Amino acid sequence: MARLKIALAPGDGIGPEIMEATLDLFKAVGVDEQAEFLPVEMGASVFAKGNSRGMTDAAIQTVESCGILFKGPMETPKGGGGKSINVTARKLWNAYANLRTFKSLPGVQTVHSRAGIPIDVTVVRENIEDTYGGVEHRLSNDTIQCKRLITAPGCDQVHRFALQTARRMGLTRVHCGHKANIMKMTDGLFLERFRQVARDFPEIEPADVIVDALCMNLVVDPRRYQMIVLPNLQGDIVSDLCAGLVGGLGFAPSANIGTHLAIFEAVHGTAPDIAGKGIANPTSLILSGVMMLRHLGLGYEAATIENALLATLESGTHTGDFGDRSVPPLGTRDFTSAIIERLGQRPGTIPAALVPEKAGPTYVRPPKPAGQQVIRTFKNVVTHVVGCDIYLDSPLSPVALAEEMQRACVDGPFKLTLISNRGTQVWPTGSVYTECVDYYRVRFELKDAVTAGSFGQARCIALLDRVAESFSICSYEVLRTFDGVKGYSLAQGQ
Ligand code: NAI
Repeated sequence: MARLKIALAPGDGIGPEIMEATLDLFKAVGVDEQAEFLPVEMGASVFAKGNSRGMTDAAIQTVESCGILFKGPMETPKGGGGKSINVTARKLWNAYANLRTFKSLPGVQTVHSRAGIPIDVTVVRENIEDTYGGVEHRLSNDTIQCKRLITAPGCDQVHRFALQTARRMGLTRVHCGHKANIMKMTDGLFLERFRQVARDFPEIEPADVIVDALCMNLVVDPRRYQMIVLPNLQGDIVSDLCAGLVGGLGFAPSANIGTHLAIFEAVHGTAPDIAGKGIANPTSLILSGVMMLRHLGLGYEAATIENALLATLESGTHTGDFGDRSVPPLGTRDFTSAIIERLGQRPGTIPAALVPEKAGPTYVRPPKPAGQQVIRTFKNVVTHVVGCDIYLDSPLSPVALAEEMQRACVDGPFKLTLISNRGTQVWPTGSVYTECVDYYRVRFELKDAVTAGSFGQARCIALLDRVAESFSICSYEVLRTFDGVKGYSLAQGQ
């Protein structure tokens, strides 16, 4: 039978050392009989040649033809236009779900392990959208904007992945973490789509939790949670919080999964301070490799390595970054040999991973898409233009600005209904205590006699044109209804 092909990028700094350790373990359990690793050029050496993507075209082709990338940490160049390879890879290949499992490990002392509180929580973070789109603009002298995009199909993909994973893991409850009490539309959509997708998983209880309360609960009593699915930025923060609960980034595996490609990586960085010294802890990459083997259907190999690693940690064997200081630490190679010696053993103090019968891989690379796919959730929605928000760079007071804006709309279908500053209403009513910056939103909505749907967005553009004659426009949003529901939020105080 043909072996699976896996693209392999050892990474920078300690990357090659911990990758060698992981591949030695793979070899020791016979992964080489099932899979072939194809080296690809990614990271510092590629950036150094002036390639701002940090990966060669040949590397991209290999990853796309394999469908799986196993990577070590990679350096993000400071300045010079080079972007984080990790972010580029996730976006380029639409690896929309970041899966991280956090479990207490024997021999790894933490606040919770000392208190006898075991941790076993999985975080699924949306990986593409949110503020990570990196759509940022300077709008005025004093104001910078970052657009936060949340889409229905993006939510559906990550929620379905989370719930399918929960089903496979036999979990009974999944929490959606969010801030929908404040961001009613964006996080509201994330939560609404979670509830919708969860209907297809009746055996799993869909619960939700506001992200700030979640952080407190995780610290106080992490046993409340089995799996949490979150938008990108909140998920980024919560997953590092969970890493802290189990002893730090060195003990957390990570997978980035998409419809067509999956990337498995250590979550920590290149540790330049210890690179080349042979003392790095390979646990995070080994656990990521275990996740990858399970993804490929190599459950026997994955469980055998996991149990040997747990038995090794349980014995007090450790690298220099953790463990009992009175026991001398081992270097990366000796630590790996200690795991290899324990292959076939199971941990005694915590539940062992179930070792299935040895079987061939089940992974089948999904077919390459013919072109870029347009993914959609809502179709046949009736929309009507009902106004526009125009964002202005202006030093005027709200009252003076209102006079100018009322003059601008006198002839058209719109009337001025609101001026806000940093989201707070400052006209027609407001508080003298509200301090204003140089960036206003002015909202125009239909005059009473005008019916929605009687014209398109060209009238908004005409108004914009008129305002632009005497004001500096920063940006502009059309106000619409979608099946009769307002597609825009109200200002605070409105
Ligand atoms: P880092 O995670 O590389 O290091 C932070 C501290 O943890 C250092 O003291 C380091 O020695 C220690 N450490 C990290 N991994 C370790 C291991 N396996 N064994 C023992 N000690 C370990 O974070 P830092 O210094 O902020 O970033 C260094 C570089 O790594 C940067 O260029 C950054 O962009 C990159 N990076 C790459 C990531 C990736 O490829 N996924 C993730 C995070 C950072």
